[in-house]
Amino acid sequence: MSKPIYVLNGPNLNLLGVREPEIYGKTTLEDVQALCEVRAKSLGKTVVFLQSNHEGQLVDWIQEARTKACAIVINPAAYGHTSIALFDALKAADLPVIECHLSNPAARESFRHHTYVSLVAAGIVTGLGAKSYELAVEAAAALAT
Ligand code: DQA
Repeated sequence: MSKPIYVLNGPNLNLLGVREPEIYGKTTLEDVQALCEVRAKSLGKTVVFLQSNHEGQLVDWIQEARTKACAIVINPAAYGHTSIALFDALKAADLPVIECHLSNPAARESFRHHTYVSLVAAGIVTGLGAKSYELAVEAAAALAT
């Protein structure tokens, strides 16, 4: 059995569907998880889908992925813009990383233009709503070790 793709979600993404739907859409995180599972299955893969509002928890899951996953998809949410800890953990994981965002941070406030995660990502999918996740899973499956 091949290792799963870890799909990690950062702060406030548990509120998807009700949080600023004009920006993030009406799809819930549960819906996004189902889309990722279906897309992974069609590619002969599985996903471990996790969300936390806590930076340290995300670091712990990235460290777990290091040995248990074949690739990482991460929507770091706001921590992408601030967290050197996530950057370090992803670098240490030594796995293909695909960064994904529902919105297009480059077209928003300037504080969203930089993400530390981008510096370790093999690729980035942004701006396509829930579709960003499906394409990120596809990219992760293609690069999986
Ligand atoms: C986000 C974009 C981030 O700038 C923001 O802080 C989020 C969500 C996105 O998916 O579009 O929480 O990662």
